[in-house]
Amino acid sequence: LNAAAVVPAAGRGERLGPGAPKALRELGGVPILVHAVRALARSRAVSLVVVAAPPEGVAEVRTLLEDAGLGTLEGTSLTVVAGGATRQESVRLALAEVPEDVDIVLVHDAARPLVPVEVVDAVVRAVADGAEGVVPAVPLADTVKQIEPVAPGRPEPVVGTPERALLRAVQTPQGFPRARLADVHAKAAAEEFEATDDAGLVERFGGQVVVVPGHEEAFKVTRPLDLVLAEAVLARRRA
Ligand code: C5P
Repeated sequence: LNAAAVVPAAGRGERLGPGAPKALRELGGVPILVHAVRALARSRAVSLVVVAAPPEGVAEVRTLLEDAGLGTLEGTSLTVVAGGATRQESVRLALAEVPEDVDIVLVHDAARPLVPVEVVDAVVRAVADGAEGVVPAVPLADTVKQIEPVAPGRPEPVVGTPERALLRAVQTPQGFPRARLADVHAKAAAEEFEATDDAGLVERFGGQVVVVPGHEEAFKVTRPLDLVLAEAVLARRRA
């Protein structure tokens, strides 16, 4: 198996509060991005990691990862490129650095630093078994309502309640055949179609995406409370 991982890490992380770009905030004294790249490099299938960094921070991110020993990890090489204005553009720019002889591409949010290697391996395996797109996912704890958008400050009318048992919250890494992902990103860019995840692009252009079990520790660090939870998970692992 020959897989590359693309890591969009160019977001500012404004929902986390003021400070450094999200991927560079620290967790247990180590930047979130370093945790995320290590988690991917732990998989024996992953031979290349391409990070999309904030455009003004490419050199800094490269140094940071090299200092963490990730430039020279046995069996895994590292590339850092400038990311784009949206997550989707960051993924497309990083994907351009993946050589054509790579069969499988994973896309993993830098903001999911604690994903267990078992999830990474399960996604790779499902792509190797022939899936056109693979997403790790977990059932929802909360009931979800669809609302009608109204002017800010007004109560939003509920228009529907999808059956919770049929819903999944999807995580990353998401996995794809490399050529397939490159194709849907090119089409989406040409049509200016934006999705909130990469599997959404495969779905849009007619591919069949499948779900594998995700993990509660693969949550995305988005808001301040997520950092508290991530610190606790890390402390438990180190205990
Ligand atoms: O903002 P959100 O949490 O959805 O971001 C998901 C991932 O996409 C993060 O790892 C973030 O760094 C990345 N991103 C990016 N380029 C952007 C915006 C977000 O690489 N322009």
